[in-house]
Amino acid sequence: MSGSVLYFSYTGNSKKIAKTLAKEVKAKLIEVKPVLELPYVFWLSLSFFPLLGFPVKDVEVKDYRVAVCFPKWTFNCPPITELLKRGVFRGKKVFLFISYAGWREKEYADFYEKLFESFGAKVQLVELVKRDELKSSQIVRFKNLWML
Ligand SMILES: Cc1cc2nc3c(=O)[nH]c(=O)nc-3n(C[C@H](O)[C@H](O)[C@H](O)COP(=O)(O)O)c2cc1C
Repeated sequence: MSGSVLYFSYTGNSKKIAKTLAKEVKAKLIEVKPVLELPYVFWLSLSFFPLLGFPVKDVEVKDYRVAVCFPKWTFNCPPITELLKRGVFRGKKVFLFISYAGWREKEYADFYEKLFESFGAKVQLVELVKRDELKSSQIVRFKNLWML
């Protein structure tokens, strides 16, 4: 079954979620890598500016269906915003999985849902995952929508 699971992960939680999802639906795993490895304080500073991108290595997303896993970072996750601005998700069916620790995650999820839509993606699902604690109900929901 064709499809991709794309992820950006700084401390490994989104990566773990992405690997589980990719295995469940037999999708390709694609990692988003910033061109520079920045220390925490730099990422934290950049995460305060909504809509700010950050250069990432080129990724090729050929599939129509794409799950996108990334962390909740203050108001912005620049590597993911960068891909949105590049039009990587335009016209695609996307399934968002956002890993968070516990501060204002719902607002962030709503913000990114609208942002993906505004950059031409068709958002099918938005799931919030505490750290890497993906629930079986979330996997079931994902698989059901992925098959449609
Ligand atoms: C720069 C930065 C900003 C963060 N901001 C938030 C936040 O606003 N709210 C929150 O719940 N967690 C925040 N976190 C915690 C991450 O969302 C959480 O640890 C997540 O599971 C990390 O995913 P990852 O391991 O894929 O990078 C932040 C982490 C970093 C590094």
